[in-house]
Amino acid sequence: MILTVTPNPSLDRTYEVPALERGEVVRATGERMDPGGKGVNVSRAVAAAGRRTVAVLPLGGAPGALVAALLDAQGIEVAPVPVAGATRSNIALAEPDGVLTKINAPGPELSAQEQELLLDTVRAQSREADWIACCGSLPRGLAPSWYADLVTRAHAAGARIALDTSGRALSEALRARPDVVKPNAEELSAAVARPLATVGDALQAAEEVRALGARAVLASLGADGQLLVSEAGAWFGSARVSAVRSNVGAGDASLAGFLIAGGTGPEALASAVAHGATAVTLPGSVMPAPADLDPAAVTVTADIPLDRVLTEPTP
Ligand SMILES: Nc1ncnc2c1ncn2[C@@H]1O[C@H](COP(=O)(O)OP(=O)(O)OP(=O)(O)O)[C@@H](O)[C@H]1O
Ligand SMILES: [Mg+2]
Repeated sequence: MILTVTPNPSLDRTYEVPALERGEVVRATGERMDPGGKGVNVSRAVAAAGRRTVAVLPLGGAPGALVAALLDAQGIEVAPVPVAGATRSNIALAEPDGVLTKINAPGPELSAQEQELLLDTVRAQSREADWIACCGSLPRGLAPSWYADLVTRAHAAGARIALDTSGRALSEALRARPDVVKPNAEELSAAVARPLATVGDALQAAEEVRALGARAVLASLGADGQLLVSEAGAWFGSARVSAVRSNVGAGDASLAGFLIAGGTGPEALASAVAHGATAVTLPGSVMPAPADLDPAAVTVTADIPLDRVLTEPTP
């Protein structure tokens, strides 16, 4: 079972608009609602692969009830943590040329009691979990060391932790030795406080993040592919992609692919790349199912192309 923890989930509302004009009444031509949050995406991809998953989510108010109902309709098991504040609603405005404008709300502040309940729920669910994937930003009220505490407690209970977060929540969690972290290029660059221009720069940064405490680093480098750096070695994976439709959630699909395939070694990296490369060919944050994957398009090598210049170097 793969348990996911999303401390700050959302109700994602997407409006299709002909064109965005500031100060005008913009009439939407279509609208949809989706359960949102990085761990929610991971759970959706794991469920699509026919594997058991439970999503731990603080949920509150009418938007929280809608998130639970939407996930239930998709057959995704939720371990809800009832909170007093309303779950946030995030707005996305999609224009016909593919430009997406997003407005993300901060979300409710969790009280000390709600934080305790969240940890208790993770503990209760983690008994059956092979992996716990902790994903996304922390809501107001949670200390930057919150993920570090979670990693320590989960390790004491015998579970492995995958962490996909950024900034201080990531840097503080490293000392608790998460089993794998999944930064993208920007997050990896921030973790070592310097820009990354080549695959070699990313490899060196990933090694530094390991030295800071992560047991393994799965670094996703957008169109350039992914690096896995672990005690057992380092590998680089990439895939041919025909047409990119939406890279939203490609990192979440990658992490799911990595964990589904065991969460360690070059085969898990190949699965991560296959999931990421397929996710970008699907609209919005739609997660790939096994039938969508094209494993033949993936290459994984221990011969890392150190001098390859990143398509999107970090600033
Ligand atoms: N333009 C692209 N072409 C081919 N593959 C891509 C492209 N963008 C992303 N991918 C694949 O998806 C993986 C994850 O993408 P990325 O590094 O952008 O994740 P991310 O920024 O964490 O995304 P998110 O947080 O929105 O889920 C990449 O490592 C790569 O395998
Ligand atoms: Mg990401």
